[in-house]
Amino acid sequence: MTWASRIARLLRPTAGDHVPSPPPPDADLEARIAYQIECLPQHYLPGIGIGDFIQEGEDLVRLLSSLGGLVTDDTVLDMGCGLGRVAIPLQRVLHRGSYSGFDIVPEIVHWNSVNISGVTASFAFHHLDVRNSTYNPDGRLEPGNASFPYADHSFSFAFATSLFSHLLADGTQRYLEELRRVLRPNGRAVLTFFLLNDEVESRAECGDTDIEFPQRWDHGRLNHPDRPEDAVAYDWPWLLGLIEGLGFEVHSLHWGRWSGHTDGLSYQDVLVLRSP
Ligand SMILES: C[S@@+](CC[C@H](N)C(=O)[O-])C[C@H]1O[C@@H](n2cnc3c(N)ncnc32)[C@H](O)[C@@H]1O
Repeated sequence: MTWASRIARLLRPTAGDHVPSPPPPDADLEARIAYQIECLPQHYLPGIGIGDFIQEGEDLVRLLSSLGGLVTDDTVLDMGCGLGRVAIPLQRVLHRGSYSGFDIVPEIVHWNSVNISGVTASFAFHHLDVRNSTYNPDGRLEPGNASFPYADHSFSFAFATSLFSHLLADGTQRYLEELRRVLRPNGRAVLTFFLLNDEVESRAECGDTDIEFPQRWDHGRLNHPDRPEDAVAYDWPWLLGLIEGLGFEVHSLHWGRWSGHTDGLSYQDVLVLRSP
């Protein structure tokens, strides 16, 4: 069974699932959020409690505000949005702004569209049929040829949490080019990565990181050589060259807990960029 068909099965309500009724069109924000949380397919989150899913999402939103300066009227892009983990709490922040998220798993985009856009009209979701050996093995487009479905300079703020850890070099380059195209001048981006500097590289080589990257590869390390897009770590100097070559300014870099930085603000490394 492919990962996509496993997700499709997990997102389907199972017998005995409580199916909540949508709130009335004029329901207040907290009632809409409560409805979305109630709709979450519990069996989709194996191994992580619902509390963790919600808590992690709220922590990520705090990070977007504190590190990236996200404000209420930003026009926001969420690349590889997943199942509303960040979009749901973000509704509390974007009172006067808007949100667009895209993902490559159609069932996830459908769930978000019905349960999030269905009750909060300023939130929209799009599907991109991009191949990924882990999430969408039969995708029509290679990540290196994908185009984001948005006009130039559409967004003031963009983020990607645990997306670039599933993209190989061609995809990462293309997604950063597309990010540069759709971000307005002076726009901000908060992106998470697994990054390797000399210190982290030696820890990874010894297997001394929380998620292991045993396999060296052209631009970094892989968690699993047979399934390269399961988890990808990048050499920081290579990524920095790419970012600066596109004209982005690195505003800040915050090392994450995965590599032993116990005081890290988040599990993955967080990179904050500013567009030219
Ligand atoms: C680990 S999940 C993170 C989801 C979400 N960002 C979050 O923090 O909850 C990785 C997500 O990236 C999506 N993804 C993988 N490759 C992608 C690509 N090339 N373009 C867009 N999304 C992709 C997957 O479908 C999955 O939803």
